[in-house]
Amino acid sequence: MPTRSNHKTTLNMKNKLIIAGLALTSSLTLSAQEITGTLHADQGTQKIHKEIYGQFAEHLGTCIYGGLWVGEDSPIPNTKGYRTDVFNALKELQIPVLRWPGGCFADEYHWMDGIGPKENRPKMQNNNWGGTIEDNSFGTHEFLNLCEMLGTEPYISGNVGSGTVEELAKWVEYMTSDGDTPMAKLRRQNGRDKAWKVKFLGVGNESWGCGGNMLPEYYADLYRRYSTYCRNYDGNQLYKIASGASDYDYNWTKVLMEKAGNLMNGISLHYYTVTGWTGSKGSALKFTDDDYYWTMGKCLELEDVIKKHAEIMDQYDPQKRVGLLVDEWGTWWDEEPGTIPGHLYQQNSMRDAFVAALTLNLFHRHCDRVKMANIAQVVNVLQSMILTDTKGTGHMVLTPTYHVFRMYKGFQEAIYLPLDLNVPTIDVRGDDHAKDGRKVPVVSASAAKKADGSIIMSLANVSLDKAQELSIALDGSNAKTVTGEILTCKKIGDYNDFEHPDVVKPEVFKGAKVKKNTLQVKIPAKSIVVLNIK
Ligand code: AHR
Repeated sequence: MPTRSNHKTTLNMKNKLIIAGLALTSSLTLSAQEITGTLHADQGTQKIHKEIYGQFAEHLGTCIYGGLWVGEDSPIPNTKGYRTDVFNALKELQIPVLRWPGGCFADEYHWMDGIGPKENRPKMQNNNWGGTIEDNSFGTHEFLNLCEMLGTEPYISGNVGSGTVEELAKWVEYMTSDGDTPMAKLRRQNGRDKAWKVKFLGVGNESWGCGGNMLPEYYADLYRRYSTYCRNYDGNQLYKIASGASDYDYNWTKVLMEKAGNLMNGISLHYYTVTGWTGSKGSALKFTDDDYYWTMGKCLELEDVIKKHAEIMDQYDPQKRVGLLVDEWGTWWDEEPGTIPGHLYQQNSMRDAFVAALTLNLFHRHCDRVKMANIAQVVNVLQSMILTDTKGTGHMVLTPTYHVFRMYKGFQEAIYLPLDLNVPTIDVRGDDHAKDGRKVPVVSASAAKKADGSIIMSLANVSLDKAQELSIALDGSNAKTVTGEILTCKKIGDYNDFEHPDVVKPEVFKGAKVKKNTLQVKIPAKSIVVLNIK
């Protein structure tokens, strides 16, 4: 069961809502619950690494082709081949880091196929994702130039599963060497004179699965070997990332830390909010209230998973030098009916927005160890920021998840502040990992101090039918004013589509005030609020 740090959750029997197995009556919808607590505005010590707001772009379905990239000859408005509308929307998010080219795709990707004149680039079959033919027109230059234009750090996911040590070593040289080296010369021939800066380098992806089905001991040795030959050229400093565990596989983390912890800067963790890996995962849009509450419980379980991996890491790295990087996370539902199997195209409702808000809040709480996270994926795949109509209409829509990322961007690099709230919990349905069910705090909250001294606070009211009134003492602050934004909906399944792009969109929030150094807020049911307190 998730336990929380710096966030006191109490089971208040009076306020406790029993969700599992009970139909909620409409009489519950009227009253508000009162939650009290204290923000310790002068007790922040840890920075919320901006990389927690990272994104992931894989050669999968229409994430790259039709999502980010349409090519310069496309009738869809583009800037040097990148979709202009998508580019502008992503620029607004201030994406700190973008992971590419996979995912599972990374361990079958041979980077030399994606450089040089496009007409000479060989095609390949994308065996992981529907057998689609990949023409390699989006390769290293197209990716790194996009990162430059977005002001984003690239995160290259290298091929260990089917690639050689030499191939990965040469890729690093190609991207980052400014000297008279063979790969730098080749890059110059291909039109790029100056080396790019590439900080983040993943040494394989899911090496326990699609990345080679390896055992942790074997992969640990391979990690040691491959990472040795990935050099720092001309002032470029690599941050080397080992392929880490899937959710509850604690032994993987243990073995990797023991055998290779001293040679890595980070180790990844993948955790999806998913019902299971076999059979239906449920529809993105058609779900019951009970399913919604299960989703909240399952996404919050990531906190427990992080704690357990972090405890293991603490044994080998008590200084917390090595980052735990949740470089794949988010919801995974059934593909939308009528879309191409294997392309993982799913709609995105207000339920997904809650998963984003709750998950970002829990990453903040663990910012001492969680130094990066990359939601899967940026466009048209799984819990995406943006959906594009790839059938030629040229439409684009921002998802509810996009709006959460936009509203939360002030948390990037802010100093995490302890916030004690006596939040009642809701008992929700469990699953194989939580046979007795789970408990979900009715409000998920997080606060941080920004560089300008103002406080950013997020408050997500998970309840489908009760407003929440909060009264929070602002210790260590003499704030006087509060402004905010709210993301809410009529129905929890509300979503945006090409015909109705603004069903779910943020509005100005006027339900908060600061009085006698206390923040008073009333948040409607199923709402996510972000406040700026000065
Ligand atoms: O994000 C989709 C896939 O999920 C990735 O390719 C893989 O790493 C994970 O299993």
